Amino acid sequence: MPEKRLMDGVIDDLRPVFSRRMIFVAWVPCLLITVLHYRTLSEYAWAHDILRRLYYLPILFAAFSGGVRGGISVSVFASLIYFPHAFLSLVARDPGDALEKGLEIVLYNIVAVVAGLLVDRERREREKQERLARELSRSLEEQRRIESQLIRAGRLGALGELTAGIAHEIKNPLHAMKGTAEILRDAIAPDAPEHRMLEIHMEEIDRLAQTAEGFLTFARPAPSDRRPLDLGEVIRRVASLVETQAHREGVKTVIRPYEGDESPTVMGDADQLTQLLLNVAINGVQAMAGRGGGTLSFSVFPERQGGKRYFRVVVRNDGPPIPRDQLERIFDPFYTTKDGGTGLGLSICSRIADQHDGVLSVRNLPEGRGVEFLLSLPAGEEKDA
Ligand SMILES: Nc1ncnc2c1ncn2[C@@H]1O[C@H](COP(=O)(O)OP(=O)(O)O)[C@@H](O)[C@H]1O
Ligand SMILES: [Mg+2]
Repeated sequence: MPEKRLMDGVIDDLRPVFSRRMIFVAWVPCLLITVLHYRTLSEYAWAHDILRRLYYLPILFAAFSGGVRGGISVSVFASLIYFPHAFLSLVARDPGDALEKGLEIVLYNIVAVVAGLLVDRERREREKQERLARELSRSLEEQRRIESQLIRAGRLGALGELTAGIAHEIKNPLHAMKGTAEILRDAIAPDAPEHRMLEIHMEEIDRLAQTAEGFLTFARPAPSDRRPLDLGEVIRRVASLVETQAHREGVKTVIRPYEGDESPTVMGDADQLTQLLLNVAINGVQAMAGRGGGTLSFSVFPERQGGKRYFRVVVRNDGPPIPRDQLERIFDPFYTTKDGGTGLGLSICSRIADQHDGVLSVRNLPEGRGVEFLLSLPAGEEKDA
């Protein structure tokens, strides 16, 4: 096993030296120059002078494309392959002055090192800048996520208060209406048309009551009972709950292995977090349904923001992207694009996230490759100390 790893390491080190680019700009030209050089008759001293110096081109190209490592590989190769032609009379011999030829060989290598070092420094600098830019854009994105969760929480909270009142007012009279309708229905002969009418009447009351119940769940999520809990277990539970429906729609569910050092423990209400992720998962399955299936994947990552530790659950599906202008609206209560959808799922999810001091957000994957919901939760308290 370690031997294999060593071999892999060596191959990885060699790969940039023998990249396609290196072969075209350095190795092949180097060989061509050598062939020409060896075949040039000694009388043509001027041609030898040119060819000898021509080696600088592939050496410089190699340094540009492969840094010190690329440059030195080619300069050493050029030195070795030119040496017999310069000093031994194997085939034809470069008629140049011995000192000059020796110096040229030394210069090949010096040029390679200097150019390579400059290129490497430049590259490191560029990588550093790119890394900084990436970090900056990541923290900006994070900032935006938190901000939108806060705004959403405020808006939903206010709406919740209002809705709870209305829902409550609706539920009581509905109860009375259902009771009286039942009495009336029983008083009417089962084959009379009025009997059927009252049945429809009661079905509609049930539907209204269900809607009111939905309002109430949104408005007053049950108080959470937060205990240390392993997010890995939550996603396993959610995955198994959604499995049947996913299977029916031809959707494959995948749990990606967790790669952090410690288990992803948060302070959370297991039922509520399950409800949240299940809602998101079901939306994911629904987004892929009727498109010949797809993959729904769950993963958990540790993350750090401003010295605080978080865990992030990512639920990803490869359905169609959500139009940009609707990315925030999908969290609004009653926003739905489905026939028979309630549009309450994500607004409840958002409230649960908020109750857990967490952030729920959504983003489209690049190139329309799918949609990803992210839930960040503060890491469990007992390990914070
Ligand atoms: N994974 C997803 N891919 C695409 N659109 C989604 C996804 N999840 C949610 N949506 C959009 O968000 C809307 C609101 O979702 P939700 O609040 O759960 O209500 P409902 O599922 O009843 O429509 C959906 O109707 C859909 O348009
Ligand atoms: Mg839904």
